[in-house]
Amino acid sequence: MDPIRNPYAPGAGQRPPELAGRDRELEQFEVTLERVANGRPERSMVLSGLRGVGKTVLLNALRGQAVRRAWGTGKIEARPDQSIRIPIAQAVHAAVREVAHRHRDPDRVDAVAGVLKSFALKTAFEDRRAASRGGTRWTPPVDVPASRGRADSGDLELDLVELFTDVAALAQDLGVGVGLFVDEMQDIPLPELAALCGACHEISQQGAPLIVVGAGLPHLPVALAASKSYAERLFRYVSVDRLPREMADRAWRRPAAEEGVAFEPAALDELYRLTDGYPYFVQAYGKVTWDVALESLITVADVRMAAPEAEAELAVGFFGARFDRATPAERDYMSAMADLGAEHGDAAVATADVARHLSRKPQSLSPARDGLIKKGLVYSAERGSVAFTVPHFGKFLRAR
Ligand SMILES: Nc1ncnc2c1ncn2[C@@H]1O[C@H](COP(=O)(O)OP(=O)(O)O)[C@@H](O)[C@H]1O
Ligand SMILES: [Mg+2]
Repeated sequence: MDPIRNPYAPGAGQRPPELAGRDRELEQFEVTLERVANGRPERSMVLSGLRGVGKTVLLNALRGQAVRRAWGTGKIEARPDQSIRIPIAQAVHAAVREVAHRHRDPDRVDAVAGVLKSFALKTAFEDRRAASRGGTRWTPPVDVPASRGRADSGDLELDLVELFTDVAALAQDLGVGVGLFVDEMQDIPLPELAALCGACHEISQQGAPLIVVGAGLPHLPVALAASKSYAERLFRYVSVDRLPREMADRAWRRPAAEEGVAFEPAALDELYRLTDGYPYFVQAYGKVTWDVALESLITVADVRMAAPEAEAELAVGFFGARFDRATPAERDYMSAMADLGAEHGDAAVATADVARHLSRKPQSLSPARDGLIKKGLVYSAERGSVAFTVPHFGKFLRAR
């Protein structure tokens, strides 16, 4: 069918034509926003799940809800080994810009901009060195001088508390709040994660209208708990997962119906069997199937015809792009995981078993394992065990 009218949207962070199966989270977040704006005690949300389940898209949708309520918002994508100070400063800057132009008191706005500047300028020595080698260096583009003595102690937790307090107060003047959205939150270095949790804790105790909403891989709740013991009480953990059958059907059918196209029931059976309801696969298969189909009733034959191409596209775009980043030693490690996972649906495997499988000493494999974790291909939710962050990755490796 006409590829121009193809509604499906495979791709990291691509907004799906139908955000299926997330109504509960969206409703819950409306309540959260309302409560936070009113200074009521409330836990923020942390989304966790495998790659391609729709965390980024959901995080963006939550941000959209905050924007519709005229909140100031900003977004960060954390990176391994990178301090969050500059990314946070940039996100806060974006949030301030959204509220500042509605604020009646320019002096107060300038005061906050000055605090933001002093916060941003207080980059650690290592970061300044990294910056001189071409890394990130950023100063908020404001004409206001940095206000010395606030948010610039160098202690990230203290500085965040001061920055957040001032920015939240600015939003509060307008009866709104500030939402900071952090993607790939598991990549925040542990001491900084602790600082961020500490600051959130303090801010929520003050009843200041600022929340940090996170998204990340399945071990993010474990990482948060390791960073601060009270993290569990700070966040509502939402596990983002594959779509149940009914919701996957909705994800395929609704966008098609808009274009006057329908699926025969056997086609949906086959699509679900092939995708397991993983959102990325739902979009990828939907897209190719649409292009292959000739009539406005999509059949099971269309799906079967599309499957090899959909797999080929996933092999390049979804699996391959990640696999290519691994070193030879890391690839061996993953192959062993795939071999071991074959019988139990690629659930977590014991690192000791991986070592045995490769006839190696466990310690000698630590660099490969740590490298894979840093690259976000593998995660460890429990000591001594590892699992793929990418659904169907074991199957992909076995098929190579
Ligand atoms: N609720 C959903 N319904 C249908 N498709 C979705 C849904 N959530 C995400 N997708 C699709 O899945 C793919 C991956 O989404 P993304 O948010 O990048 O996942 P993650 O951040 O978890 O890796 C995108 O193509 C997106 O359009
Ligand atoms: Mg994502």
